[in-house]
Amino acid sequence: MKQGKKIQSSKRKIEKSLAASIPEEIREEQKILDILQKSFSGVFGSDEFELVLRNIKKAFYERDFNTVFTNSENLPVYSAAYAPRRALCYYNLLRQIPEISNLLCLKNKTIYCLGAGAGSELLGISSLINELVEQNSVKKENVNTSIVLQDYVDWNSVLIPLQETIMSEYNFSAGFVDFKHDLSNLLEIDAQIETGISKADLVTCMFVFNELFADKAKVMQFISLLTNKLQPGKLFLVTPTFSITIQYDPILLLILSYIKN
Ligand SMILES: C[S@@+](CC[C@H](N)C(=O)[O-])C[C@H]1O[C@@H](n2cnc3c(N)ncnc32)[C@H](O)[C@@H]1O
Repeated sequence: MKQGKKIQSSKRKIEKSLAASIPEEIREEQKILDILQKSFSGVFGSDEFELVLRNIKKAFYERDFNTVFTNSENLPVYSAAYAPRRALCYYNLLRQIPEISNLLCLKNKTIYCLGAGAGSELLGISSLINELVEQNSVKKENVNTSIVLQDYVDWNSVLIPLQETIMSEYNFSAGFVDFKHDLSNLLEIDAQIETGISKADLVTCMFVFNELFADKAKVMQFISLLTNKLQPGKLFLVTPTFSITIQYDPILLLILSYIKN
């Protein structure tokens, strides 16, 4: 019995020293994948997964974005398939931008994430917060971050279990990170979106332009709103979706030059 305990204790020590020798970002990345695995275990294991994913890809190919996102059956499968690479990408991207890490270390900040119901931004940002807390770069009492996930469809079936897993796996106490789901359409601008942008310290727009450009006239109204409502000194982060049918560069330059001025 005593021998068994000794073996267990040396095993734990070896595991601990192995974990300490793994670079911090690799540990964070593994944690991201573990959280998704836990949150979507039922989805990955479902018999329908491959079939639903094939239908999603077909609709994307046909640029039929509404079919992808307004069919509730697709949402968990979409997130399970796409959120892993996106959350890893966002965590790595955000941690390389000093302005964003600095913002996360300040008291009371709001991040408004456009078209973010699938949960990738939520996990990427939470992971960076966790890293900053573990490095003692941010004091626990300063963590309180409000993350608003704006989207035009109700992603709660995905977001609620993901939020719960994030809170428990990162040991976030209540009030540490406050998550909200803001249901609104970027192509039908309303007061909720205006307030969201004008109150935000950071606005993100990750892989959403492809969908928005389905309506070119309305997307210009949205860009104009963004440039008018984002307050001076606040941050805007955009990642364009690569598409052979849209030329982004001039539009992005236009947005960036408006915001800079
Ligand atoms: C390609 S997904 C990207 C999701 C997320 N940003 C990510 O990186 O995982 C596009 C997202 O934009 C949302 N979306 C599409 N059109 C929208 C609109 N007009 N207003 C708000 N959200 C929209 C979709 O519901 C979907 O969540």
